Amino acid sequence: MAQAEIGVIGLAVMGANLALNIAEKGFPVAVYNRTAETTARFHANAGELAGRVTPCATLAEFVAAIRPPRPVIIMVKAGDPVDQQIALLRPLLSAGDIIIDAGNANFRDTIRRFAELDGSGLTFIGMGVSGGEEGARHGPSIMVGGAAQSYARVEKVLTAIAAKYRGEACSAWLGPGGAGHFVKTVHNGIEYADMQMIAEIYGLLRDGLGFGAKEIGSIFGCWNEGRLNSYLIEITAAVLAAGDARTGRPMVDVILDRAGQKGTGRWAVIEAQMMGVPATAIEAAVAARSLSAMKDEREGAEALYGANSLRLDAGDRTKFVGELELALLAGKVAAYAQGFAVMATASKEFSWNLPMATIARIWRAGCIIRSQFLDTIASAFQSPAQPANLLVAPQFVTLMKEAHGPLRHVVSRSTLAGAPVPALAAALAYFDSYRQGRGTANLIQAQRDFFGAHGFEREGEPGTFHGPWGNPPSA
Ligand code: 6PG
Repeated sequence: MAQAEIGVIGLAVMGANLALNIAEKGFPVAVYNRTAETTARFHANAGELAGRVTPCATLAEFVAAIRPPRPVIIMVKAGDPVDQQIALLRPLLSAGDIIIDAGNANFRDTIRRFAELDGSGLTFIGMGVSGGEEGARHGPSIMVGGAAQSYARVEKVLTAIAAKYRGEACSAWLGPGGAGHFVKTVHNGIEYADMQMIAEIYGLLRDGLGFGAKEIGSIFGCWNEGRLNSYLIEITAAVLAAGDARTGRPMVDVILDRAGQKGTGRWAVIEAQMMGVPATAIEAAVAARSLSAMKDEREGAEALYGANSLRLDAGDRTKFVGELELALLAGKVAAYAQGFAVMATASKEFSWNLPMATIARIWRAGCIIRSQFLDTIASAFQSPAQPANLLVAPQFVTLMKEAHGPLRHVVSRSTLAGAPVPALAAALAYFDSYRQGRGTANLIQAQRDFFGAHGFEREGEPGTFHGPWGNPPSA
């Protein structure tokens, strides 16, 4: 067999599917797993693709099987296992070989790994891969960070295995160093916000209007035909339509309301805070998952305060369902605006020169947040005058003018009923604060100067000023 074009280390779900995807697209691939039985089993189950797969029992065999300069994809658990794998590989690789970490790495670890390999002759790529198991097998969205010439070596393979949006591959080189993993982290932050807002709307339909899972599923199914069309809305409809084999009840009704999280959403929020970029809808979504995990405390507090009725005084129900659709759309615009603002600032801070339109384009298919909506975002960033924020991009101004009223109505009704909608409410507050020309920070500045002589600016006059705080106004 010809030498492999690329190698994959780690044959758990994501690695195995990525390797099959590579083989299916016609590229010979070498594979290695820590346990040789897993490698052998993978090869035995590869069916007609087995001929393009070289199973390797040792790392030395694996390295020898790949055409130099060797691109090696590591798809193991993020964190220490990646460092351990790099340490084992390093002595076997030669100058020019490329180690590609395709896991959900913290981009700060990626930056450190670049530095650790500096001067070794080896190169590194930090590659965000989105789309879960299905995506890895049939077309993920691929976000690459590293040297452009390293990407050139793997571009053909990555372009072939990536998802396609109207024929365009959803894979791109986004910048040097940690750029790819950073963009993947923000993708996940947006994913959290999107999912949380969908869950909040589900809650309003379930508790506020008293609909059953099946009816709610049909509503999401309908919305998927309109402007909310997206993978997450589509799977929400499918999830709500599924029944539990054991009880016959809707599956969603027997699932405990305690959400897991692996940390990528949290990283997005931490980085946003570090850079001073408001990402409140994403933050609300991460916090909502944490609060959901406090099941016992929540039950205790409900016993103490009594449960809210949650029934919405919604007026015309059909009209209100229409408002829910628009509210979700408005919330989504605000959350994506925040995510893109985080990336724009990071791009400057880390000198990545992130291509915003390209990011939106490679998220249109393959990844978890894929949607038509991202095509509109891509067009907003394509215009020569890059918008400072998606909220002021002409593509979204008309939409927000139409949708912020319904969002306001939904948030206020929910609040009166005691139904928590933290991400939607955060999105609304962000929108209202962002478009308020004169806010209330003048008082904050006065307080800061009062207690700490921190100084303030005066309207229409340059310089730093201090009170006299004892003086009553004379005018
Ligand atoms: C993707 C997903 C994927 C995964 C994350 C989120 O883009 O394919 O984001 O990376 O779903 O691990 O997981 P948590 O919800 O567990 O944080």
